[in-house]
Amino acid sequence: MSIGLDNVIAAETKLSHVDGKNGRLVIGGKLLDDLASSTEYEVVLATLLYNLFDVNYNARQIRDLLGKARSDVFGELSRLDQHLVNLPPIDAMRSLISRLEDGNDVSTALRLVAAPAVFTSALIRARHGKALIKPKSDVNHATDTLQMAGLDYSPLHAQALNTYLVTIIDHGLNASTFASRVVASTKAGLVSSVLAAISALKGPLHGGAPGPVLDMIDSIGDEGNALPWLENSVAQGDRLMGFGHRVYKVRDPRADALKGAIASLQDSAAVDHRKLALATVVEETALAVLKKYKPSHPLHTNVEFYTALLLDVLGFDRADFTSVFAIGRVGGWIAHAREQIIYGRLIRPQSRYIGFIPE
Ligand code: ACO
Repeated sequence: MSIGLDNVIAAETKLSHVDGKNGRLVIGGKLLDDLASSTEYEVVLATLLYNLFDVNYNARQIRDLLGKARSDVFGELSRLDQHLVNLPPIDAMRSLISRLEDGNDVSTALRLVAAPAVFTSALIRARHGKALIKPKSDVNHATDTLQMAGLDYSPLHAQALNTYLVTIIDHGLNASTFASRVVASTKAGLVSSVLAAISALKGPLHGGAPGPVLDMIDSIGDEGNALPWLENSVAQGDRLMGFGHRVYKVRDPRADALKGAIASLQDSAAVDHRKLALATVVEETALAVLKKYKPSHPLHTNVEFYTALLLDVLGFDRADFTSVFAIGRVGGWIAHAREQIIYGRLIRPQSRYIGFIPE
């Protein structure tokens, strides 16, 4: 029995491989290191979706169809109301997605890939009392996400967001992807799978971590405060956000891909060099503290630490970080859901009853 399903193989996949011992991530047959800095999100998406629907599109076609899907989904925003705008952003985005028609076909899939970007950007604008910005169909997904959110979408910033979306598009059988596959195994439909995945993603032990990473850095505030703050936090049993991983026993390779994306923005006026220097000290100190206080557990920097720093530089509020994670990961959720549907086996594990049994 494995509570938490540690080390249990619950699916076979061609989509991604998390090599936790060696700190390597393979996505669609390619190493993350070879993909992250230059491959367009649409190219990786086309690779993941290949042979999962009754029609195959190349990256160019995916780019065009995704552009059309963004316009299509934007039409749903006529029903955006103040109640939704006041919800936590990830909950508001999930509510908007729940209004999409469910299905298992490729056009449902493309609308679903478009939806987190369109809805998150619209919610950012609405929350700040600003007019919504229509999607552009002739730019790539990363560029249009920034454009619709009213953020700097210069090639440098768009490339950095693209690197982020590619880096996090898929990652084995993480909690949200597993949720997507469980729902897909019942043949409920792709919208249902994505809704389940978003619900799993939002928790602080999964995609909800990067906002608290920035809170931690802000709360530490000063390099000299890092050691006492972090020691005190671990001593009272708190978890340091952005550190530790169920599968990686070495450094998460996605952390370095995102660190590289931040480095590519060094000359951007948006970079707060003091904050980045503080973050470097916080990371080094946290690793030393974890080594000292948790010697039997290999705890390293995970993807969320640099997610927080990168999305902050790109101009996203910390309240939106989890939604931006969904903008990238939705491609993986859909590919896994389709793989599961094609495999065709209902996921139905067992529990061991430890309660009272009547005579
Ligand atoms: N800070 C302090 N201690 C930690 C941390 C951490 N970040 N992570 C694990 N530990 C400790 C636990 O307290 C436990 O110690 P104990 O045995 O003395 O009680 C030990 O390490 C093992 O912890 P587990 O809960 O068994 O580790 P698990 O594999 O379940 O945890 C997880 C993985 C949930 C990511 C964990 O490391 C964590 O909570 N990290 C902080 C939150 C975070 O960064 N989440 C994002 C993950 S990446 C992603 O999902 C996209």
